[in-house]
Amino acid sequence: MVRVFQSHEIQEAALWIQQGIPVAFPTETVYGMGASCFDEEAVQRIFSLKGRPLDNPLICHIATLLDLHLLVREVTPYALELAKKFWPGPLTMVLKRKEHVPDCVTGGLDTVAIRMPSHPLALELIQKVKKPLVGPSANQSGRPSSTTAEHVMRDFEGKECGVIDGGAAEGGLESTVVLLTEELPYILRHGSITAEMIEQVLRCEVKTAQGKALNASPGTRYRHYAPRAPVVIKRSFSEVKCLPNRRYFLASTQPQEGYYHLHPSNLYQLLRLSDENLYDEIIIVCLDEAWNNLALQDRLMKAAGYIS
Ligand code: TXA
Ligand code: MG
Repeated sequence: MVRVFQSHEIQEAALWIQQGIPVAFPTETVYGMGASCFDEEAVQRIFSLKGRPLDNPLICHIATLLDLHLLVREVTPYALELAKKFWPGPLTMVLKRKEHVPDCVTGGLDTVAIRMPSHPLALELIQKVKKPLVGPSANQSGRPSSTTAEHVMRDFEGKECGVIDGGAAEGGLESTVVLLTEELPYILRHGSITAEMIEQVLRCEVKTAQGKALNASPGTRYRHYAPRAPVVIKRSFSEVKCLPNRRYFLASTQPQEGYYHLHPSNLYQLLRLSDENLYDEIIIVCLDEAWNNLALQDRLMKAAGYIS
């Protein structure tokens, strides 16, 4: 049974985590499955609960800048500027880790990914546990991320864990991940904080991961965000062709009769909805403006099975 904690029960949820039982928490992006980043047994438990490959490292969630110093060898000038501008918020920074950060958190890399979420319940939980929390998206590995407590309950039914119910996550797509260990910052995963926004703050070029940097983010290698039915992306309504004996789940980024209206914030909700109703195929019409949202484009491509 997944134990549900309400917003006034954070102290109890924190106790569960201190005893090594994972508890999922809401963030402004998606729900994360929480454990103390220094509790190796609990971290291992999260990998097995999720069915996550062990070489896919986890993000540590912190509540104060002091916690950043606890985890990284050096807070570089770029990191400090980005933290000042975007934290708390949906930006994850990858920096050189301190020795005492467990290998199971970093997948054996010498870096660690860190973010300070802005959701008040996430911050309260971290403060009450008094340790940074790992928080991989609270879904079965390879499936759409969870944006509500109900999604978490469904994905972890029958498992020993909890979830703090904070309602629907506002953003709906995971944070931007930026690697800050090279001369120039690299975006490893697109999110609502764009390369342009980072460039404006740092006044330097920001690269988008390819080749070498892609290898630095193991999570990008796996098929992700995938519902059960095949996903097909179309760039205009005129390309949509439906066969008579198949059941289609139709969604589009522009309101249109007969189509679910897709936003970045409800993509996972829609993919899960289509699963529950056992459609044969999901057709998503993504028009130009929405296609330019690289975070959305990336998740759509991955849901459709393209591995970049
Ligand atoms: O919005 C989010 O980031 C959510 C919420 C809960 O905070 N969390 C999330 O975690 O999306 P997860 O585990 O689903 O994705 C973490 C991503 C993966 O692609 C992983 O490979 C990458 O971050 N990552 C983690 N540590 C890394 C590291 N040291 N170097 C490179 N990539 C890393
Ligand atoms: Mg994930």
